[in-house]
Amino acid sequence: MADEQRSRIRTSTKSSSSIAQIRLVSQHPEVYEPCDDSFALVDALLADRTNILNMRPRFCLEVGSGSGYVTASLAIMLNQDSSVHYFATDINPHAVETTTATLAAHGVHSEIICTDIASGLERHLSGMIDLIVVNPPYVPTPSEEVGCEGITASWAGGEDGRVVIDRILPVVNELLSEKGWLYMVTVTENNPSQICSMMRKMGYESRIVVRRSTAEESLHVIKFWREATGDVKHEGKVSSSSSYSWLPQFPLLSFFRNNGNSS
Ligand SMILES: C[S@@+](CC[C@H](N)C(=O)[O-])C[C@H]1O[C@@H](n2cnc3c(N)ncnc32)[C@H](O)[C@@H]1O
Repeated sequence: MADEQRSRIRTSTKSSSSIAQIRLVSQHPEVYEPCDDSFALVDALLADRTNILNMRPRFCLEVGSGSGYVTASLAIMLNQDSSVHYFATDINPHAVETTTATLAAHGVHSEIICTDIASGLERHLSGMIDLIVVNPPYVPTPSEEVGCEGITASWAGGEDGRVVIDRILPVVNELLSEKGWLYMVTVTENNPSQICSMMRKMGYESRIVVRRSTAEESLHVIKFWREATGDVKHEGKVSSSSSYSWLPQFPLLSFFRNNGNSS
């Protein structure tokens, strides 16, 4: 994260009397810690928060939940509405444990499943999920690394970083409700426009909600929705600078980004 962004977050944290809503309650060396891509995904949800609240999602799913930071943020953003049901999956059993601890610590009731993408959920939840959020393993790597155990599964994306992403897309199509939305992190190497074309063939429109460059990568968080439903009014601007964050408007979510150090 850029220094400027860090300091803005610190400033907003200091000025808030009510912080530390998302705490790093559990860590494991084999579990992905929230990073720029996780923050970009949460910022995209915050940027579209009014639309999401108006859409009134009942079932939400995070594929590849890692620490649980994104789902915990989403639940806080949705005002911890007890009528919303959360599902989270991860292929890494240590991530499942960490997500369980994070969500429990924040009072989020959810089903957390150790599985490949959403295997096993399709049977029960086909066409029912209103919000799917994914920060997938997107780094281009040798194909042998895809599906490796532990922390490698967090980033290893195979050719063009697309191997896991391309397997997620049809699952999303199966699970999303008619009004449902997908928010997914990609990087330039993934060829995001090709991903949008693939989704278009399945009947989805798309737009970039957050675009952010870090020292290592150029991130895009893309929102997809079914063509037939149309997108709602755009709330807020697309974020395109490396230091821009929605966080100052939403200081409750800042604690994790500051490595738990609120001072
Ligand atoms: C980049 S990390 C993101 C973690 C978390 N969502 C975040 O934003 O901080 C990707 C996560 O996807 C998980 N993952 C990788 N391949 C998966 C698969 N085939 N099915 C489910 N989860 C997978 C990894 O174990 C890892 O926790």
